[in-house]
Amino acid sequence: MLIRKPADIAPSEITPPEVWRRRRDLLKGTLALAGLAALPGAGAALSADDGGETPTAIEHITQYNNFYEFGAGKRDPSIHAQALVTRPWSIRIDGECEAPREIGIEDILARYPQEERLYRLRCVEAWAMVIPWQGFPLASLLKDVRPTSRARYVAFETLHDPEQMPGQRRGVLDWPYREGLRIDEAMHPLTLLATGLYGETLPNQNGAPLRLVVPWKYGFKSIKSIVRISLVENQPVTAWNARQPGEYGFYANVNPAVDHPRWSQKTHRMIGEGLLAKPRETLPFNGYGEAVAPLYAGMDLRRFF
Ligand code: MTE
Repeated sequence: MLIRKPADIAPSEITPPEVWRRRRDLLKGTLALAGLAALPGAGAALSADDGGETPTAIEHITQYNNFYEFGAGKRDPSIHAQALVTRPWSIRIDGECEAPREIGIEDILARYPQEERLYRLRCVEAWAMVIPWQGFPLASLLKDVRPTSRARYVAFETLHDPEQMPGQRRGVLDWPYREGLRIDEAMHPLTLLATGLYGETLPNQNGAPLRLVVPWKYGFKSIKSIVRISLVENQPVTAWNARQPGEYGFYANVNPAVDHPRWSQKTHRMIGEGLLAKPRETLPFNGYGEAVAPLYAGMDLRRFF
């Protein structure tokens, strides 16, 4: 498959927001007809922009990134990640499951029907974007490997290749980048493995060829360029939590009531609106509370932040 860089894609080829929105409405209709709109996941995903939220322009989504393997500046990934080779690419799914496997990205694309999901991405740095993703529920992939009863968490790993990822030659994090979810979070219908955005193959800087998207958590949970997914019994070590446990919790649910030690999480700014725009109020679970709050019933979310 030919992989095109965003720079090679003519603006005329990018799905314009109106067309995208029409398609989304169509999908909404289809889901309603199929009786699926009642699913907590489907409803919350498709109503994300009902409050008048428009998708962030593709230039911002692809030029304002966090991907430390390619540098710490927001523009660095859009420049340096272009050299990352994403075909062939395979993902190992192992650990506490009956049918572990290694599966190539082409097989993943052929096997799992791609859906469109408009999700807010809220970064811990108090900015946000609205991104039209393509992808499929992580649950579909996990069900296929048949997790055992000991699988209580899911651990994810990014490619470790300092040759291709110059940031890994520096000790910012203990590489490779690692993330984790509790099994019920991983199985939730809102949890997506993304393979594209705005109708195009996922740009390298956004985590090609496969990245996680967990819309109710701070952006650092959404690990990019995944090569390994392991079902595990104990809470896995995660990159930012290992680096600064007081600043980045394992759960990382978007929570305006729990400030980052160095700044407030009550509001955020939308990338693309400019610095003069009024900050937006941050909602618990990034606005997806109706769908996901039951996962945390009875938990002290200040302690488990
Ligand atoms: N995944 C890897 N492998 N390396 C990273 O540095 N940064 C995280 C997350 N996934 C990161 C990563 C952070 S902090 C955020 S906010 C999101 O990716 C940003 O995703 P985006 O650049 O597609 O908006």
